[in-house]
Amino acid sequence: MTKTLLLLPGDGIGSEVTAEVRRIVDALGLDVTLQEARFGGAAIDADGVPVTDETVALALAADAVLMGAVGGPKWAGQSFDTRPEAGLLRLREAMNVYANLRPARCFAALADASSLKRELVEGLDIMFVRELVGGVYFGKPRGIEMLANGERRGLNSHHYTTGQIRRVARTAFELAKGRTGRVCSVEKSNVMEAGLLWREEVQRLRDEDYPEIELTHMLADNCAMQLVRQPKQFDTILTDNLFGDMLSDEAAMLTGSLGLLPSAALGEAGRPGLYEPIHGSAPDIAGQGLANPSAAILSLAMAVRHSFGEERTAERIERAVETAIEGGTRTRDIGGGASTAEMGQAIAAAL
Ligand code: NAD
Ligand code: IPM
Ligand code: MN
Repeated sequence: MTKTLLLLPGDGIGSEVTAEVRRIVDALGLDVTLQEARFGGAAIDADGVPVTDETVALALAADAVLMGAVGGPKWAGQSFDTRPEAGLLRLREAMNVYANLRPARCFAALADASSLKRELVEGLDIMFVRELVGGVYFGKPRGIEMLANGERRGLNSHHYTTGQIRRVARTAFELAKGRTGRVCSVEKSNVMEAGLLWREEVQRLRDEDYPEIELTHMLADNCAMQLVRQPKQFDTILTDNLFGDMLSDEAAMLTGSLGLLPSAALGEAGRPGLYEPIHGSAPDIAGQGLANPSAAILSLAMAVRHSFGEERTAERIERAVETAIEGGTRTRDIGGGASTAEMGQAIAAAL
């Protein structure tokens, strides 16, 4: 049956990398109806808000949504609720995509592109499961308030309920069953009550429903260090919204570039997923044809796998990215001179 894929190019390199996603959809001849809508700063400029109600409705009605990137210096001075990033948070919340899968795999041909030694990253395959609709990103109260003494105070709240923790932990345990069965849960249970609850609930769910899973716990600061000391000790890393954001960017450098890492944000079964490269709008290279479209194209592969249920086509896209890189076509971030379009063409040719 024909699937619907809503493309949200967004800002900066977002439109450059999603153009290459289109190229791959066309080359595959996928039975997909492509829709497109403005998002982020582009929507602020045209519609006055970072995402319109109509776009949210389109997303909820689609089979999958693929976002490029949002944000940029043009909108950085605006209040929080009217920034491009607020549109992304609204969409994640509306779609209730609470589990964000961020795989970090090191392609053999790129083991020397990492800032770490080849032997540390060769064969690396980590799956981050980041909670995506809770924690300090969404906690209330929040804001900037004026104090009686004339100082201003910035306020954010970090909280998690047992239900929020258990549902994302379940996703991590289910994924780990198809991998090595090892899950490392990461928090700061030594200084945060929400972190302690996280640790207790994750352990409880493991003991109740997943006795076959080998679960360990690690404090987030140590995890940041261990990721560059001995990254291959990890298989599946389960963590909260903020730690997951930071640790997955760190992991990108283990694979060679932020331009290589895709993500899938999933909610309840049968609901549409939200797919995004983990990188941003890269204002420093936007408009120059320098962006690596691999992360966006690998995000399409994740959409094909998780929302369209076509595992073989997903693997075909993933292999094509690897083949193009092995064949020597590389954008600047991974040590080559290819443009965004040339990289997309090489991937399409390798399908
Ligand atoms: P960024 O991810 O945009 O860029 C960080 C660095 O990585 C830059 O040097 C950039 O050139 C490079 N880079 C990123 N993607 C690349 C690619 N595909 N190919 C080659 N190089 C790439 O992070 P930033 O500069 O901190 O943020 C810029 C804007 O993007 C901010 O407004 C931020 O809020 C937003 N942002 C959005 C998302 C998203 O939409 N999901 C994610 C992260 C940041
Ligand atoms: C990401 C981004 C977003 C996040 C921002 C743009 C809201 O950094 O997707 O990693 O922090 O989740
Ligand atoms: Mn991020």
